Amino acid sequence: SDQVPFFGAHQAGIATPAQDRLAFAAFDITSTDAQAVQVMLGTWAAAAAQMSKGLLIGPVENTPSAPPIDTGEAYGLGAANLTVTVGFGPSFFDDRFGLAKFRPAALADLPTLPGDGSIDPTRSGGDLCVQACADDPTVAFHVIRNFARLARGTAVMKWSQLGFGRTSSTSTEQQTERNLMGFKDGTRNIKAQSTPDLDDYVWVGEETDQSWMKGGSYLVARRIRMLVESWDTDYLTDQENVFGRYKTSGAPLGGKDEFDTPDLTAKDPQGQPVIPLNAHIRLAAPETNNGQKILRRGYSYTDGIDSTTGLLDAGLFFIAYQKDPRKQFVPIQTRLGQQDNLNEYIRHTSSALFAVPPGLTASGDWWGKSLF
Ligand code: HEM
Repeated sequence: SDQVPFFGAHQAGIATPAQDRLAFAAFDITSTDAQAVQVMLGTWAAAAAQMSKGLLIGPVENTPSAPPIDTGEAYGLGAANLTVTVGFGPSFFDDRFGLAKFRPAALADLPTLPGDGSIDPTRSGGDLCVQACADDPTVAFHVIRNFARLARGTAVMKWSQLGFGRTSSTSTEQQTERNLMGFKDGTRNIKAQSTPDLDDYVWVGEETDQSWMKGGSYLVARRIRMLVESWDTDYLTDQENVFGRYKTSGAPLGGKDEFDTPDLTAKDPQGQPVIPLNAHIRLAAPETNNGQKILRRGYSYTDGIDSTTGLLDAGLFFIAYQKDPRKQFVPIQTRLGQQDNLNEYIRHTSSALFAVPPGLTASGDWWGKSLF
């Protein structure tokens, strides 16, 4: 079947196998009426349940004198493994709706991190996020478009991002895809089959100060532009030293197979580390980060040409899920931002953080229902 169950303990779109396409959007709430927000979230949930089954959100041909209820572009495309994942940004818990008391400590605003100089605030943050992933781009986009339509009068889209070519495998059944730098991406990612890792690093558990978040997770999104023209002039060995892996096989330097464990202690005959000290995989590895791991679920993007330079605007729309960004994304990115060989070839251009509540139980449930 090409359907991913929408209801369950956890939201789909986190530990479920990464699909080929992404449509992501952040929304800001414009209404001051808490009830309007509830109605919108309930309507979104009902629509998401329908679309996850490959169904329209309502008839296209309802009445000749009214606009079609469903916009229609995904009609006949099936579910294409669609997942719809919704989260709340820190600003959702300001006191507009009296929800400040429900703000989890782990949803602390991300601090300014090393290398944050190119972050564009107009495509960062947001009160709500919607991550739609599917194996068909129209099916993913259809969610964002119809959510924006259902939100009319209550919330507006603040920014959005399309992605193609998943850059992370999240299941051992998937082969590892390559990112736009030509390297396999997702080799040492947390995989759906690894339940202990999901419980230890991804799903919010008893440690939370907000019981409504149990079974949920925290999403960090970063639009990371790659300076591809410059990368493409770098010689192969240097590219491999940037990551600490071989380009074709994906094996760690000094290893043979993609899934060999990187040997961070190995030295070459000259006494130099085989995996350089500033290699991306060394700095990002759990061995360097107090054992911490994250679940990466990013996509490649291209948004045409940067009109000021004529260079390609392309890169990685990085998405990571974790139990507590203060212990996971923030320290890892602090280290990467300071020391990563990759920094010469990338710019972080957007940043966002969302609390992604647990899965919905059944029809009639919606994200954050217990808060109101
Ligand atoms: C590993 C690419 C940004 C965290 C990797 C690998 C590649 C890669 C090729 C090795 C294969 C693998 O294990 O998946 C990139 C690119 C980036 C980027 C091209 C930016 C454009 C980031 C950021 C973070 C991050 C921002 C987190 C703050 C990790 C982690 C690993 C990893 C945790 C696994 C390390 C290990 O356990 O060996 N990345 N990455 N990456 N990356 Fe990145």
